Amino acid sequence: MILRKDTNVEPYFDTEYNDPASLKVMEEYSKIEKAYRYALKEMCAKLENLDDYCSATLSHNPIHNMESRIKSNKSIIEKIHRRGYPVTIRTLKDLIYDIAGVRVVCNYIDDINVIINLLSNQKNLRIRLKKDYIANPKPTGYRSIHIVYEKQMFLGEEEIWVPIEIQFRTIAMDMWASLEHELRYKSKTPVSDEDKEKLRLYAETLYNIDVEMQKIYKEKTGGSTND
Ligand code: GTP
Ligand code: MG
Repeated sequence: MILRKDTNVEPYFDTEYNDPASLKVMEEYSKIEKAYRYALKEMCAKLENLDDYCSATLSHNPIHNMESRIKSNKSIIEKIHRRGYPVTIRTLKDLIYDIAGVRVVCNYIDDINVIINLLSNQKNLRIRLKKDYIANPKPTGYRSIHIVYEKQMFLGEEEIWVPIEIQFRTIAMDMWASLEHELRYKSKTPVSDEDKEKLRLYAETLYNIDVEMQKIYKEKTGGSTND
């Protein structure tokens, strides 16, 4: 069974951006917001289903835990302004692809690929964008694979492809990302260059541990994590 944490942020609009264009975007968004919520729900159900399938057929649960959230109205409008995009509903639909977000935390690196491969065979789902920060870590040391899927949904008879951003990472990568984020955004003083370098090195060390732990797992189970 996967540990699930779903954050359903109540839509609110307490922001400095209350100009007519921003208000119009949010009014338009309120008409399609449900599609984002249901797309996210269905995606999470799909992921749980895949995890159960792996448990039944491979005797291994690839997913350790997952979290999901819908971006608040405030964050959506602030992102549009911060990026300098035109303040229109088209921008929201086409350029803000992390309104619905899931974080899938896997046990081993191979498990990430198992889930991604299983998702690639799903109907009504297509990939819009993939960023592989495991093959190419960020300069900070951050590792994860980000994929923006588009899920086919219907608003009445109207077809709409809803973007959902999934961040796939291991438990070790998740531990590093959570603590690094906290250090960067929650502390009063900025992280020094020396500490940044330490954090980058720790991310690398954790990655090496991930690889070694997976080797032990494979030896013990007599094959790969997906057999
Ligand atoms: P956003 O506007 O933040 O969505 O940025 P983006 O669209 O350029 O996407 P990017 O690929 O940089 O990934 C964004 C998300 O990945 C962030 O919201 C974080 O959750 C995570 N992330 C990316 N880089 C880092 C990092 O260096 N440290 C941590 N802790 N998280 C990161
Ligand atoms: Mg984001």
